[in-house]
Amino acid sequence: MARGLFITFEGGEGSGKSTQVARLAERLRHGGIETVVTREPGGTPLGESVRALVLDSSPEPVTELLLFAAARAEHVGKLIRPALDHGTWVVCDRFIDSTRVYQGLLGGVPRDLIGAIESHSVAPTVPDLTFVMDLPAEVGLKRAEARGALSRFDAQSTDYHRRLREGFREIARAEPARCLLINADRDPDTIAGEIWRTVSERFLVKAP
Ligand code: TYD
Repeated sequence: MARGLFITFEGGEGSGKSTQVARLAERLRHGGIETVVTREPGGTPLGESVRALVLDSSPEPVTELLLFAAARAEHVGKLIRPALDHGTWVVCDRFIDSTRVYQGLLGGVPRDLIGAIESHSVAPTVPDLTFVMDLPAEVGLKRAEARGALSRFDAQSTDYHRRLREGFREIARAEPARCLLINADRDPDTIAGEIWRTVSERFLVKAP
């Protein structure tokens, strides 16, 4: 049986990831592709407990890194890898790039520590494709505010959100084979159309 494909969505606050995750999964299922939707932190009972812990308190950056990493190791081992092996596609809201940007770039956790943890808990289950949802920090923040309760990450300064955006853009530049930068400052239908075209062209259109 062919392995499933692993697609992740990344980006700053209010960038519309969750909407596009749902839209893509709906189209895949409509096309007869078995698809699991999941998110980080979360995806397993342990991951959801970590989510509550880490979003409701303000741990030290290294503590935060280890909590996200613990949740991710469970997620990969118990849900993502078995699903892919079974031929199911996995669409995930946030993954390794969030750790690289939030805990690494902004939290100051050394890159080599993050890399070492990734190589033991994630590899070789890296995403086949990552959509990096990109929009100006001010626009994302307005959207997140309009949505109601701000998480402690949302409630940071505009400068923090600008650096966040730059961090994700840098990853997209550094890994062009895996990552695609999406202009998220457009209406959801247009964005969903571009995402679907990309997925179809890369993975679904059979070579003649
Ligand atoms: P969530 O409510 O899911 O935010 P969003 O809708 O923006 O995805 O909260 C997840 C928060 O956790 C988000 O602000 C980013 C942060 N986070 C990290 O700091 N590191 C990580 O590795 C992950 C997966 C998330």
